Amino acid sequence: MNVFTRRSFLKSTAASAVVLGGAAVYWPRSGFAQPTGGMTNLLKIPALETGHAEGGVRVYDLTMQNGVTEFFEGYQTPTSGINGSYLGPTLKVRDGAAIRINVSNTLEEPSTLHWHGMHLPARMDGGPHQVVSPNETWASEFTIKQKAASLWYHPHLMGKTAEHVWRGMAGMFIVEDAESDALPLPNNYGIDDIPLVLQDRIFTRDGRMDYGLSMHSRMMGMVGNVPFANGTYAPYFEATTTKLRLRILNGSNASTYNLALDNGANFMQVATDGGFLEAPVEMNLLQLAPAERAEIIVDLVAAEKVMLLNMAIGGGSSGGMMSGENNNAPAFPFLEIRAAAKITQSADLPSHLTTMEWLNEADAVKTRVFNLEMQMGMGAMMGGGNSHSINGKVMDMARIDEVVNLGDTEIWELRNVSMMPHPFHMHDVQFQILDRDGQPPAPNEHGRKDVVMVNPDEVVRIIMRFEDYADANAPFMYHCHILEHEDAGMMGQFVVV
Ligand code: C2O
Ligand code: CU
Ligand code: CU
Repeated sequence: MNVFTRRSFLKSTAASAVVLGGAAVYWPRSGFAQPTGGMTNLLKIPALETGHAEGGVRVYDLTMQNGVTEFFEGYQTPTSGINGSYLGPTLKVRDGAAIRINVSNTLEEPSTLHWHGMHLPARMDGGPHQVVSPNETWASEFTIKQKAASLWYHPHLMGKTAEHVWRGMAGMFIVEDAESDALPLPNNYGIDDIPLVLQDRIFTRDGRMDYGLSMHSRMMGMVGNVPFANGTYAPYFEATTTKLRLRILNGSNASTYNLALDNGANFMQVATDGGFLEAPVEMNLLQLAPAERAEIIVDLVAAEKVMLLNMAIGGGSSGGMMSGENNNAPAFPFLEIRAAAKITQSADLPSHLTTMEWLNEADAVKTRVFNLEMQMGMGAMMGGGNSHSINGKVMDMARIDEVVNLGDTEIWELRNVSMMPHPFHMHDVQFQILDRDGQPPAPNEHGRKDVVMVNPDEVVRIIMRFEDYADANAPFMYHCHILEHEDAGMMGQFVVV
């Protein structure tokens, strides 16, 4: 069936459901689409980019570009990506390496690329101040000073981050080091070591995924109803080993995912945002807020089929009327894992992964308080850019909000004084969670983090040390990683001096 006959077919279809690519996609946007045709598409694996050597520097070339992507058979969806039409390659770097990333912009508008989670000089960060104009190339040069971790990258243009990410610009950024080399974890990229960028999008009936904010999505964040893994709809992966390492990124604009396996089996979480946990943590439900990452190890037996699901979670700390609406969505599948009839035995999981240097509360020279706020009501909703703030202030690129001294250890006290959860993210450093409402964090959050979910009325204290990079004239950002909230002003700037 070609696009034109399908289009006329769609016109005559009842408003409640449309057919895209042979699988039903339900309308309206309440409720996620269930792939009724089963998981029929081979999971796309982003290209692995290890760069090339120029002198002593590893060089990576990235091009932001517009294109079209066929998510659903017969539908050409306008999208944007990096070195492709949707998403971007997985960059792999080594601790200690001097790198240069050439970011070229062939879009018809300015954008940026930010290395989320990376410890680096602010001028190389790719934040709102490092704008790449159309037809220009920006070179980001720095030395990797980082533990092995699954980081990521995405645009960060002031006021436009949400739209640029929604169109498809994001990718994973893997750091390896001597420690990760030595661990007997699956590390064969695309075979038993799989990047998994989880997202949701919403489509018009002719297959476009235009970014259009309603008053509701401006307030709550843009939540789709079609789930994707690595830009693949209804994906399956063929596993050939008894252990599968999934490097999961919540790459959505605004949705919190609650991940579980459909057979109820446990899995092991081995890493959080900034790298390995001290020891694997056994889990059966993994909550990932926007921008959070987790590396998990899934055990498989020959010929079995296991579904990675998003679970329907209502109530609890993230429930209630104003919760991220996706928390109340029905369960839906993200990925079917099909184990081959004959699979290779993987090495046993080590019981010790890394040794953390725990920061000590007594070493903190300062505590800063950050109130995460939303102004409710029609006035705020229609006010466009002014509905979300931190400490009473809407983001202003010309204003430095906090000045930090190089070498200091600080505590940041995050207070959610609004009615919905906010995933707080800061640039420059990996932090540790001291407590949530006075209670120690869950074992899988007991590690190096760069995003932390702060639930309504909750107080989360994090601790961090500012090392290496000071520049009074180049700020780092901190913000809510619900991208619509960030764009609406829930962001601030700090400098290290
Ligand atoms: Cu993921 Cu300020 O960014
Ligand atoms: Cu970031
Ligand atoms: Cu928020």
